[in-house]
Formats: sequence, structure tokens, C-alpha cells
Amino acid sequence: MDKHELQAAIEHLHDRWHPCQEGEIATYIPELSKANPDEFAISLATTSGRLFEAGNCDRAFTIQSISKPFTFGMALEAFGQQRVSGHVGVEPSGDAFNAIELQNGTNRPHNPMINSGAITVTALLHEKYGDETFEMILDRFSTAAGRRLSMDQDVYESEHRTGHRNRAIAHLLLNFGMVHSEAEKALDVYFRQCSILVTSRDLAVMGATLANMGNNPLTGNSAFDLATVKSMMAIMFTCGMYDYSGEWAYRVGVPAKSGVSGGVLAVVNRQLGIATYSARLDARGNSHRGIEVCAELANSFGLHSFDCLNMGSSFLDTLL
Ligand code: DON
Repeated sequence: MDKHELQAAIEHLHDRWHPCQEGEIATYIPELSKANPDEFAISLATTSGRLFEAGNCDRAFTIQSISKPFTFGMALEAFGQQRVSGHVGVEPSGDAFNAIELQNGTNRPHNPMINSGAITVTALLHEKYGDETFEMILDRFSTAAGRRLSMDQDVYESEHRTGHRNRAIAHLLLNFGMVHSEAEKALDVYFRQCSILVTSRDLAVMGATLANMGNNPLTGNSAFDLATVKSMMAIMFTCGMYDYSGEWAYRVGVPAKSGVSGGVLAVVNRQLGIATYSARLDARGNSHRGIEVCAELANSFGLHSFDCLNMGSSFLDTLL
């Protein structure tokens, strides 16, 4: 039987980008510097439950900032849009993910994809759920991934020990009343959520869950409400790749989120979750190979939201 067109495409992309050595592994969280920069994985999961994979798709790595849209979704469901928007905005900042700054006038973080916004979101959850918060996050992420996930203790401890910049951000937020008084405890939950272990396959399924209106296409279980998914994807579209978000929208044109351990998650609404893993990052903290693979995939298959081939999200139906 002929190889499926998508399978052939990602194998080709994997071979093409494997030799690329551009970018650097993140070292500011010391434990992350142990990653193998040659490892490289591409996984696609469709809303009909099919998987296509190439490379090191079983390599577990920490989810890092790709956790942020998912905790944002949890906060929207727990508190509603109005309460959440009192604490965090929805504007791209145009600045680095770890910038120590708040929005002029409101003193809110610009958006929930940068560290200050994500720490605020986790603090909201912690204010409501206390010591249960991390387990609730792990449960929800596991539902989206379709299997029980766990946390990397070493990466967590490494960030907990060295995360002084995030500690400064948490205290700045506390100063402006954006987080409750247990800022340190909320930060601890944030460090833990960033240390949840996933493979590129898990991320692709989590993406397919978003693409599939919040329902995991492999298990049929609901992870997020329809209205929440819309908000999660909107913020991923405008802010998910930090100060590369505009260029990403231009080149790739789908909601996405990157993490500093090397993951990239992209979502083609109603069609696909796309995930890549490659630890070498560009200057903005996004995986270099990840960006290039997503751009080429989008180009070859007309995945860009405004590509004339992507008619009402139906183009890929013919392939799936
Ligand atoms: O808070 C941090 O700095 C990390 N735990 C997560 C940052 C991150 O993944 C940025 N992404 N590219």
C-alpha cells in the first residue's frame, strides 16, 4: 500500500531538517541543558484519531510554556472571562516571554502566554483550589493528552532553585494585587506545571483535542468546553510565539505555543494537532527546527488559516 501523504511529508521534513544545528539549548534552567540537541520529533494527530509520526516521538520532555494556554483555559472555565480579564490582558506584548513589565494603567500582565500572565493565571487557580491545584492541572492535561501524565522532579527542582526572575515577577504581581498573598505557593504550582512530561505525540493529541472542539479524538473524553477552546486558540494565535507571534501568523498562520525545552504545538482548527520537539532554540526561545517544519507543513498543505486552500477548514478532510 502507498504511504499516506501526510506520513511521507513528515518523514521528508524530518530528514530535511535533522542535520540543521541552528539555535542553542536553554540553560537558564540548569537541568534543561542536559537535553540531547540532535533529538528531533514530528507528530501529527488528526481529529479523526489518526497519528502520523517521525523521529524521537517517544522522547519525554517538559511541557514548559506549552502549559500556558491549557491553564488559561482552566481559569476561564473556573472564573469566567470577565473575572480573568481583570487580572490578565489579551494583547501581544511584543516583548520577551520573561519580561518584567505590566500593562500601563491596568498593571495587568499583557497576556497569559508570557510568564507574568501565566503566573497570574496559576495564582487565580491556586486561590480557588489551594493544595489541590497541581493535581487538577495534571488531571486536565492528562485528559487532553489521553493518558496519565507525570512530572519531572529534577526539572521542577532545578527551576524552583534558580527561578529568581519568575520570583521577582510574582512579587511584582503581588505588589499590584494581581495575585493573592500566597504568591510563592502559586509560583511553586507554576514551576510544577511547567515540569509536566510530554512526548511530541502527547502534544499532538492535546492539539487535536483543541482542534476537535475540546474532545480528545482518541478517548472521546471532553477536556475543555467549546467556548473555552475558542478563547485558548485566539490567544495562541496572537501571543503564543511571544515576540515572534506576528511573523508566525504571517508565515504559518495557525494558533500555536512554544516551550523552552524545545516543544512547539500548533493547531489547525477542526483538523489537526501538530507537535515538534527539538531543543535548539532561536533568540526568542522558540525551537528553530520546530518553526521551520511547521512553516513548510503549512505551506505544503494549505494549513494557514487564510490560505485559499483551507476553505472553511475542509481542505484536509479529503486527506484524512
Ligand atoms: O517560566 C519559565 O521561564 C519556564 N518554566 C517556561 C518558559 C518557556 O517555556 C518559554 N518558552 N519558550
